[in-house]
Amino acid sequence: MNVSDRELRVKPINNGTVIDHIESGQALNVLKILGIGSHSKTVVSLLMNVPSGAMGAKDVVKVEGRELDPEEVDTIALISPRATINIIRNYEVAEKFRVGMPRKVVGIIKCGNPNCISNSNEPVSSKFMVESADPVLLRCSYCEFVLDKNIADNLL
Ligand code: CTP
Ligand code: ZN
Repeated sequence: MNVSDRELRVKPINNGTVIDHIESGQALNVLKILGIGSHSKTVVSLLMNVPSGAMGAKDVVKVEGRELDPEEVDTIALISPRATINIIRNYEVAEKFRVGMPRKVVGIIKCGNPNCISNSNEPVSSKFMVESADPVLLRCSYCEFVLDKNIADNLL
């Protein structure tokens, strides 16, 4: 890859948030976590499977005009523990931090137990406590069901 290819691929943004070092293949799930879908008017750039020295390949999501706050982005740690958040102001990286594993996860992940009250018609949001970060292990606060695999597939 020559320099001009690289510049084209990672065009700098003026203001907003760059989520970098996303596990390869998880960019669309990151958008889901951020609530950015087909009706969103936010300007978003998506890079998937770009070569990365440390990770081999990675995904990158650039959200323009929005500074994401840590609570909003911490859920990303569930599917990409090495992701970094870069707040961009005036084309400069003004802040850089790594996503932090949240203590609890509310309303984002579906419980794997079909009989769980959070899967019924009751107005109950799903709720998990994060019991372990590496490997990720979530326990449902209602039925004790343990979720440790396919977390990305259980995103609501
Ligand atoms: N970035 C951007 N627009 C800017 C500045 C930076 O889109 N105006 C993006 C870069 O393309 C990169 C990320 O924000 O994906 C972080 O930028 P920077 O800290 O300059 O890159 P690195 O030093 O490579 O980051 P790290 O050390 O976290 O790997
Ligand atoms: Zn449950």
